[in-house]
Amino acid sequence: MTSQRAGGDVLDRPIGLFDSGFGGLTVMRALVDQLPHEDFIYLGDTARAPYGPRPIAEVRQFALQGLDYLAGLEVKALVIACNSASGAVLHDARERYSIPIFEVILPAAKRAVAATRNGRVGVVCTQATATSRSYDDAVAVAADLSLTTKACPRFVEFVEAGITGGPELLGVAQQYLAPLSQADVDTLILGCTHYPLLAGVINYVMGNEVTLVSSADTCAQAVYSGMTRRGLLHEQPRDAVRTFLTTGDADDFHGIGRRLLGGFVTGATTVALD
Ligand code: DGL
Repeated sequence: MTSQRAGGDVLDRPIGLFDSGFGGLTVMRALVDQLPHEDFIYLGDTARAPYGPRPIAEVRQFALQGLDYLAGLEVKALVIACNSASGAVLHDARERYSIPIFEVILPAAKRAVAATRNGRVGVVCTQATATSRSYDDAVAVAADLSLTTKACPRFVEFVEAGITGGPELLGVAQQYLAPLSQADVDTLILGCTHYPLLAGVINYVMGNEVTLVSSADTCAQAVYSGMTRRGLLHEQPRDAVRTFLTTGDADDFHGIGRRLLGGFVTGATTVALD
């Protein structure tokens, strides 16, 4: 596939990622694996997380504030690294910014449609994503496919507390995932960017026959493809800069980020959005 190269001034701009809190770090980690020579600015709206229980209009308002902030830092692309925000804001964002916009829902839905063998797909997500029915829309083109959606609000609480195992989480996971097993899904979308951190327990409960689709990995692949097509990626190795911004306490962000993702999160700065 050919692409026209962007000029150095655009090429050297960072890629901006936005999430309600820490979940988008799973997208950023996947992106850093695939695009190690790119600069990234991550913004987590931790002061107002979780977004999942909020009405969609409020999620849209908060997400646009975050995306506006990143766009003001002259990023060369925006990644909405949050399913709840992607469902609420994607179309507004495409109208509002002239740079490429990536999101997490469509890439995961496409992968699940390609992966399923029995046509029964599940999605676990926040209440906001379930209410928006964004995954129903995204898989609608695949005739004969049934989608079972289960909101799992407590999963985000566990992740943000740094808990990815243990009997309490296992019990909650068994309860949340039972309807998906009963629906005989063979493919399960982790439709919240926090959930890749719970892939172990979800796989343990669902079993190896069920393919897990991470919206973090599939989003990172979509960013790679979209940016390559536009000639917006560095081709040569270079020292990349990764910046972490939070609307909450910077030390808390650093501490929780390190606990969840190890040395990947190197420090954070607090910013105000409203
Ligand atoms: N990480 C967000 C998502 O992908 C959800 C977390 C929240 O509820 O704020 O939907």
